[in-house]
Amino acid sequence: MRVLSGIQPTGRFHWGNYFGAIAQYIALQNNEQSFYFIADLHALTTVRDPQQLRDYTRDAALDLLALGLDPAQATLFRQSDVPEVTELTWLLMTVTQHSLLEKCHAYKDKVAKGIAADAGLFTYPVLMAADILLYDSDIVPVGVDQVQHIEVTRDIAQRFNSIYSGEYLHLPEARVLNATAKVPGLDGEKMSKSYGNTIEIFEPEKKLRKKIMSIKTDSTPVEAPKDPDACHIYTLYQLFATPEQQSALAARYRAGGMGYGEAKQALFEAAWAYFEVARQRRAEWEARPSDLEDVLMTGANKARAKGQQVLERVRTACGLRARLSS
Ligand code: ADP
Ligand code: TRP
Repeated sequence: MRVLSGIQPTGRFHWGNYFGAIAQYIALQNNEQSFYFIADLHALTTVRDPQQLRDYTRDAALDLLALGLDPAQATLFRQSDVPEVTELTWLLMTVTQHSLLEKCHAYKDKVAKGIAADAGLFTYPVLMAADILLYDSDIVPVGVDQVQHIEVTRDIAQRFNSIYSGEYLHLPEARVLNATAKVPGLDGEKMSKSYGNTIEIFEPEKKLRKKIMSIKTDSTPVEAPKDPDACHIYTLYQLFATPEQQSALAARYRAGGMGYGEAKQALFEAAWAYFEVARQRRAEWEARPSDLEDVLMTGANKARAKGQQVLERVRTACGLRARLSS
């Protein structure tokens, strides 16, 4: 069984990305057919500064390895290192109905936010379908916001198979990641790069403390008892603390006499300790850039070996000249 997912390098990863996607994905990696890639071609639809794209891509690789993605178990690669994916995108594009793409919420949302409605943004789901179909993926773990794109992938695959009368493309299934884990940001809204309310996983210590201290709270006086379940500092604390630590802090909330500053301090300590091992691992990888590059190139070679087989099948199905050597 092949599990595949991708994440766009559009900024430094934050707590929402970790608990909502990365942690859950890494937990699936002991499946030996696990593919994970950094979707740099997709990021081009929004990141237009080449140096920034390079930095985000490198940071994404470092973050993923630091957080426990094990290259001995999972195949990690950069999307753009597998050129087969762009050829498959074109072949899929020829069987994709305009009306199918017009229905996509992600496209409509992005255009509503003021992102240019380029053809790349409009056909983003076709590149995503190619990402998935190129490797005969069975399971695609994604957040709820991406489920529609998996449906589109299935539609495109079915249409291709029906036009060319054969089971050339393998239909994937979405595995929806824990939707209840919606991590709140500094303002209590969903943490998201586009809301500017994020706390990055690898913030430096001082900056982390400062950000946590800036979390918005209500004006309940220090003496008053507080409801931990109505406080997003406590919601965040639960992500990092043991059950005993959680009950202890909840009791402090309910007893009164505790200001939010104290809860923020507890959150800072728990979060800092939680990513301690990952921080060390990140520093080790950062000091070995050529090993990092090797991991990505080895991953890309493995992905390409599979991708070339599938592409050959698809090319032949639609009447393109088969390669003379494979
Ligand atoms: P952002 O909203 O910061 O741009 P992305 O859309 O790139 O983040 O999200 C990448 C992955 O992280 C997606 O699978 C998404 O579901 C997950 N994710 C992002 N923010 C959160 C959050 N606040 N809570 C839970 N999951 C999140
Ligand atoms: N569109 C996905 C996101 O924004 C990232 C992505 C690109 C992806 N290609 C993919 C996810 C293929 C799963 C499978 O989160």
